[in-house]
Amino acid sequence: MKYHKLVENAAKPEGFWGKLMIRSMNKGHSALTDWALTHVTIENGYRVLDVGCGGGRTVSKLCDRVGSGKVIGVDYSELCIRKSESSNHKQVLCGKAEFRQASVSQLPFESGSFDLVTAVETYYFWPDKLNDLLEVQRVMRHGGKLLLVFEMRRTADDPDRWKPVEERLNIKAVSRSDIRDILLRAGYQNIRTYTKSGTSWLCATAEKE
Ligand SMILES: C[S@@+](CC[C@H](N)C(=O)[O-])C[C@H]1O[C@@H](n2cnc3c(N)ncnc32)[C@H](O)[C@@H]1O
Repeated sequence: MKYHKLVENAAKPEGFWGKLMIRSMNKGHSALTDWALTHVTIENGYRVLDVGCGGGRTVSKLCDRVGSGKVIGVDYSELCIRKSESSNHKQVLCGKAEFRQASVSQLPFESGSFDLVTAVETYYFWPDKLNDLLEVQRVMRHGGKLLLVFEMRRTADDPDRWKPVEERLNIKAVSRSDIRDILLRAGYQNIRTYTKSGTSWLCATAEKE
């Protein structure tokens, strides 16, 4: 029962269980995020958007890498925005980090605003994946990069591995070819996928033409 309440709050953290989930995500996704970030170059001055920022741990890691740049986190959960702001309060105060409550389907930014967009363990929940990837592409600059990160990788030899979570949250784990295909359909270029041996981790990088 407690486990189920916690897991259900991965989709949109709210209330008591949402607070616990945010704490658990910040801790549980840290090593996955560090690994995924080794697959992108982040230059001094970059403007980075983290979609589905949860408790803001990825934004904090990105702030350490952008030098004079800026990192913006968006999440449609009000609780996530409040938690992200408090855990990154120094970076928010100096204007290096900012958080906005918004859906990936309607990002409150002008076209071409970001050098890099990251999305850690959030894609499964996006309501209209192809259009949401197009909306993300809209806010990227030409030549800008997208980094999508997954812990729930589906493989042919163990397709039911994530079934209990998939059923509870009404989501689908992602295979290498799923993500490559949809990124191609959305018009992204230079698509690459990476896995880490001994884990279920998967990340994909892609560029806007
Ligand atoms: C499993 S959590 C991952 C949070 C964070 N990226 C991390 O790695 O700890 C998924 C996050 O995506 C957010 N999310 C889900 N669907 C979203 C949407 N349509 N628009 C914006 N955020 C969304 C949820 O509110 C939640 O904070």
